[in-house]
Amino acid sequence: MAVCGTSVRYSEVRRKNSPLSEPKRVDLSVKQKRSILVAVVLPGAQRELEDPLDELRGLAKTAGVKIVGTLIQNRQWPDPATYLGKGKVEELKQLIELQGADSVIFDNNLSPGQSRSLEKQLDKIIVDRSELILTIFATHARTFESQLQVELAQLLYQRSRLKRMWTHLERNEGAVGTRGGPGEQQLETDRRLIDARVSELRNRLKIVEKRREQQVAQRRDQLTVSLVGYTNAGKSTLMNALTGADVFVADQLFATLETRTRSWNIPHLGRVLLSDTVGFIRDLPHNLVASFRSTLEEARHANVLLHVVDASSPSAEQQIATVNEVLKEIGINADQAILVFNKIDVLPNRSYLDALRANHPLAVSVSAIERTGFDRLAKLVADRISDGYIETTFDTSVGNGRLLAYLAAHAEVTRQEYTDSQVTLDCRIPRRFVAGIPDEALRAKLQQNGASHEN
Ligand code: GTP
Repeated sequence: MAVCGTSVRYSEVRRKNSPLSEPKRVDLSVKQKRSILVAVVLPGAQRELEDPLDELRGLAKTAGVKIVGTLIQNRQWPDPATYLGKGKVEELKQLIELQGADSVIFDNNLSPGQSRSLEKQLDKIIVDRSELILTIFATHARTFESQLQVELAQLLYQRSRLKRMWTHLERNEGAVGTRGGPGEQQLETDRRLIDARVSELRNRLKIVEKRREQQVAQRRDQLTVSLVGYTNAGKSTLMNALTGADVFVADQLFATLETRTRSWNIPHLGRVLLSDTVGFIRDLPHNLVASFRSTLEEARHANVLLHVVDASSPSAEQQIATVNEVLKEIGINADQAILVFNKIDVLPNRSYLDALRANHPLAVSVSAIERTGFDRLAKLVADRISDGYIETTFDTSVGNGRLLAYLAAHAEVTRQEYTDSQVTLDCRIPRRFVAGIPDEALRAKLQQNGASHEN
C-alpha cells in the first residue's frame, strides 16, 4: 500500500496483515525520511501570513520527518503536469541532490498525474498534504472506531492512485506497464481487494456508529458541552483544566483523534458533560471528514459548542474560518458556538487579541495553562444553557403517572410537595422536551407563554 509513496502492493499488505475483521495498522510513515518541504502559494490561498510553510513544518515534525530543505513558489495557477513550474522542478532537483533528500512533501494536494510525473522526474518519494495528514491520523488512531475510519479514508485516497503506485513499481522492477501485462493485472487485483475491504469497513463502521448514536442518544437528557477547534488550539488542555481529567496533551498536530467525555462542574448550574473532539485543519482530506462524521456526532447534539482558538497564532482568523467551514460541512451551525480565545498568556502582541476581539466581540479570552478566564467562560456556558430552559411549576394529580414519569426522565425537579391527592413540582425543563409533554393543555400553555407558572 502506498500511502506515502512507498512501493508495497496492496495485495502484499493484505497477506501480511491481520485477518479482515481487525482494523489494519499499516506502517507507511515518513518517519526518519529526509524531506524537502514545498509550498506553491496561489492567489487568495489561505496561508500563514509570516511563513507559508509554518503549518506543514508542524505536520512534518509530528509525522517524524527530518526536514532538510524548503522551497516556496508563488504562482497564478498550478502547472497542470507538475504543480510547480518547470524551472522550480529543476531547482528542486538540485536541492534534493545537495541535501541528500529521499522525499518531497507538498503543502498542496496533487493530482495522481502530477504526483506521477514528479516522481518520474525527481526519482524520489512524493507526498502531498492529504497523504501526510492521513499518515498522522493513522499513527494517532487509538480506538477501534478511529482505526477503521482512518483505514477507510486511506483506502479511498489510495484507490484513486493505484496506477501511480504501479508505474513506480514497474520502474523499480524494470517491467513495462503494457495493457493486460502483469502490472495491469495486479492493478485490477489490488482494486478488487481494496473495494472488498472498503465495503467491509463501511459495514463495520455502520455497526460501531449505531452504537455511538445510541450512546449519544442516552445522554440526550444530560447537559453536554463540546469542544471543537483547529488542531493544537488547546482543546485537550482546556478540557483537563476544566474537569481535572487526564487527557493526552502534546505540542503536536492531531494529538487527539477520539472523542472523550468528562464531567465539568459549573457553579450555579451543576454537572455537565464536556467532550473533546478531533482537531480540524485547512484542506482536511475530504474522505477523512466523511469518515470522522460520526466522531463529531457528539458535537452535533451538544447543548453548547465551545470553539477553541489559538489566539497567539497569526493565522487565528484563518483557522476560525476553516473550523466554521468544516462545521458547516458536517451540518453544524457555527454561529451557535461560543468562541474561546485561548493561549492569551503567550500573545506575541496585545494587538493580536484586540483585532480578534473587534471581529468577534462575544468571544471569551482564557489561558488553559494559567487557568485564567474560567469564571467568565463558565458563566457564558451557564447562561447559554439556561436560555434553553423553561422554569415552571406543575400542579397535578398524583395519579397522573404519564406526566410524572415524563418529568422524572426529562426535567430537573427542584421542589416536590404532596397535598392529599395533588402534587406540586418546581421544574427546569429543556425547551426541546416541552413538545413531548404528555398533556396537551399544559403543553400548549407552556409553548404559548415560554415560561412562568403552570397548573
Ligand atoms: P489536537 O489534539 O491537535 O486537536 O490539539 P488540542 O487542540 O487538543 O491542543 P492541546 O491541548 O494538545 O495543546 C496543544 C499545545 O498547546 C500543547 O503544547 C499545550 O501545552 C499548548 N497549550 C494549550 N493551551 C495553552 C495555553 O493556554 N497557553 C499556552 N502557552 N500553551 C497552551
